[in-house]
Amino acid sequence: MDNIQTKIIAVANHKGGCGKTTTVVHLAAEFVALGKKVLVIDLDPQANASLHIGKKHPGEVAVTSAELLASESNLLIDALDEDTNFTNVSLIYGSLNLGKTEDQLKENSPRPNEELKYKLEPLDGLYDFILIDCPPSLKVLTSNALSIATDVIIPIESGSQYGLYGVTDLIHHINKMHRINAHLKLLGTLLIKHDQRQNVCKLIQSEAEHSIGQLFTTTIPLSTKVNQAAIFQQSLLDFDSKSKVRLAFQSLAKEIIHKI
Ligand SMILES: Nc1ncnc2c1ncn2[C@@H]1O[C@H](COP(=O)(O)OP(=O)(O)OP(=O)(O)O)[C@@H](O)[C@H]1O
Ligand SMILES: [Mg+2]
Repeated sequence: MDNIQTKIIAVANHKGGCGKTTTVVHLAAEFVALGKKVLVIDLDPQANASLHIGKKHPGEVAVTSAELLASESNLLIDALDEDTNFTNVSLIYGSLNLGKTEDQLKENSPRPNEELKYKLEPLDGLYDFILIDCPPSLKVLTSNALSIATDVIIPIESGSQYGLYGVTDLIHHINKMHRINAHLKLLGTLLIKHDQRQNVCKLIQSEAEHSIGQLFTTTIPLSTKVNQAAIFQQSLLDFDSKSKVRLAFQSLAKEIIHKI
């Protein structure tokens, strides 16, 4: 897609549980609240973003990102679902079937890392933001996201002493992807579960600044409301619009819009 209007943001980090899905889900809601048209693409076999945003169970969806990627014909129209739990957020579901997509792509696709790019071409200009939730790995699914993304966000769990483990590999992988996507840039590093009073958070913050850079001014605090909103399949905006964690995602959305 050569359209410079649509910002395609891949939220990626092969470290599991660092806040990728949470970032995708709540950023989507905040972009919509700021008047933007948003599509979420779930590329994770765990399908957590789909379980939160989608009205259907991923197992019952005929065309998910897995079928979209693996099929010879372009099933994009069938994959797009506009009727989600989040008003004005469209969704391409993920599903467990993504577990075999990698092998299927390697066997059948002339360009296994660029299949998503090819399949999304008809969407040119239809959305302001496309947010891609990547799985916790740096294999073909994440490469498909990075080959089409204009920007990448790296969430880091700042409350964990292991928050930066493997980050050098991630940066190396992103740099390698520049060979097939020269437009890709690091939009920002996002500190999740961050508490400025905690020494471990301060340490991770300064190490992240040093090893990755581009830290967002906004940080996301630790809050039980994140899990609660997921249980009720709501955005934080609907669940508790005045909570600190919701205001943080709102501030992040504004920071991103200002930045691009
Ligand atoms: N700010 C936060 N405060 C409290 N809990 C959070 C916060 N952000 C995320 N969580 C919780 O941490 C867990 C991991 O978050 P999330 O699922 O977003 O990570 P992930 O990187 O997508 O994980 P995976 O690599 O498995 O896809 C989830 O249970 C989520 O609800
Ligand atoms: Mg996830």
